Amino acid sequence: MSKSKTAWFCQNCGYQSPKWIGKCTSCNQWNSLVEEVLEKSNSGGSWQKTQEQGASNPKLLQSIVYQQEARVVLPDEELNRVLGGGLVAGSLVLLSGEPGIGKSTLLLQLALKAKSLKTLYVTGEESDLQVKMRAERIESGESNCYILTETNCRSILHTAQQLQPAMIIVDSIQTVWSPDIESSPGSVSQVRECATEFLKFAKTTQIPIFLIGHITKDGSIAGPKVLEHMVDTVLLFEGDRNYVYRLVRAFKNRFGSTAELAIYEMKGDGLKEVSNPSEVFLSQRDESLSGIAVSAMLEGVRPMLIEVQALASSAVYGTPQRSGTGFDLRRLNMLLAVLEKRCGFRLGQKDVFLSIAGGLRVDDPAIDLAVVCSVISSSEDMSISGKYCFAAEIGLSGEIRPVNRVEQRIAEAERLGFEKIFISHYNKAQIPKNSRIQVISCKRIEDVLRQVFG
Ligand code: TYD
Ligand code: MG
Repeated sequence: MSKSKTAWFCQNCGYQSPKWIGKCTSCNQWNSLVEEVLEKSNSGGSWQKTQEQGASNPKLLQSIVYQQEARVVLPDEELNRVLGGGLVAGSLVLLSGEPGIGKSTLLLQLALKAKSLKTLYVTGEESDLQVKMRAERIESGESNCYILTETNCRSILHTAQQLQPAMIIVDSIQTVWSPDIESSPGSVSQVRECATEFLKFAKTTQIPIFLIGHITKDGSIAGPKVLEHMVDTVLLFEGDRNYVYRLVRAFKNRFGSTAELAIYEMKGDGLKEVSNPSEVFLSQRDESLSGIAVSAMLEGVRPMLIEVQALASSAVYGTPQRSGTGFDLRRLNMLLAVLEKRCGFRLGQKDVFLSIAGGLRVDDPAIDLAVVCSVISSSEDMSISGKYCFAAEIGLSGEIRPVNRVEQRIAEAERLGFEKIFISHYNKAQIPKNSRIQVISCKRIEDVLRQVFG
């Protein structure tokens, strides 16, 4: 008789260890390992036995018939795009985000708006009255949404089997539990077990399931290794809670691109889709203020124009402060060093604060030129015309480097009525003919500064 096999799992990150250790070697958390029974059947000891149990046969690739996957088109254009053109039948989608960001709101809203789809909204976090109250805020009128307050995974699936909805929403995966496992809901083994059950259900019934998942303090989904591998799509809900804009991006998608992004605005009556991001991220300013520059950047594959604001002032304390909201601080330091060394600006004794409008986080290197211009504008107290925008990366020697998809950026700037866009000399070949906007290609920072500030 073989003894039932156990392993130790980190409750923080899902790391598996054959023996107990005090500190998880994966996430460095202390005292987070818990022993759990591995549910492996002891029957199939060797490969000979597997044959008898009817293993699946290999198929020749050519003989597999390809069918376009069936997709449920959701009443939310933004989400459809992020999912790659609608929700694939039988898919398991994880929507994760920090508490209070609006996960429950987004999916409840989806269930309420999809009037032609019978949806099952399972809530383990709120009572049905609370859900009702929220629903009243979001959408009035008839809906085809069933609310189930249940946390037992088996009961949920049993109800779903009977109801046969077109879509299931589970809020949240951390509250459901399976009676097969001893540990408490939210633990890595429970999350994994329940997710496996939902996955099996989705694949066999072809009913798509949304799982809501919370994020731990360090920004990872509880039991991340387990869940992210299992599900078909991982959507991340991001945004600063102090701002009204919320972004949903695909972190993994088996049925589409991960470059798409959905933008929402949190209103008193739910989340509203933002289909013209550039127009919201540009503040309406009448007078020309110093320290503001507009960048034509890309979020995923979508071009948008956003405002970069900088404040450079004499340092009060010995060591100047640098801070970047929505922008990488190391990159800011690098750009300041380039300005100091290559262009002769004395920024070493100045505090520099940088902020990206709307609470966005920008990784696109094309924002560099706007950052540099906003810093110089603030430092020299000279404003930049509100009709200028920038799209170029900056190299260590002060050269203006090319960026991708420059045509799209130019087109977006033109659409929004900008008069001049500054790009790299090396992007010259991609400049479209006969555009209304004046495209200025530059080789070095000095060229740009001369043209902008005269
Ligand atoms: P919620 O969806 O519960 O967040 P999560 O499920 O991710 O924890 O709600 C997020 C916040 O949004 C909450 O603090 C209240 C606010 N909110 C609105 O501003 N407008 C609304 O219409 C709703 C329903 C919520
Ligand atoms: Mg919630």
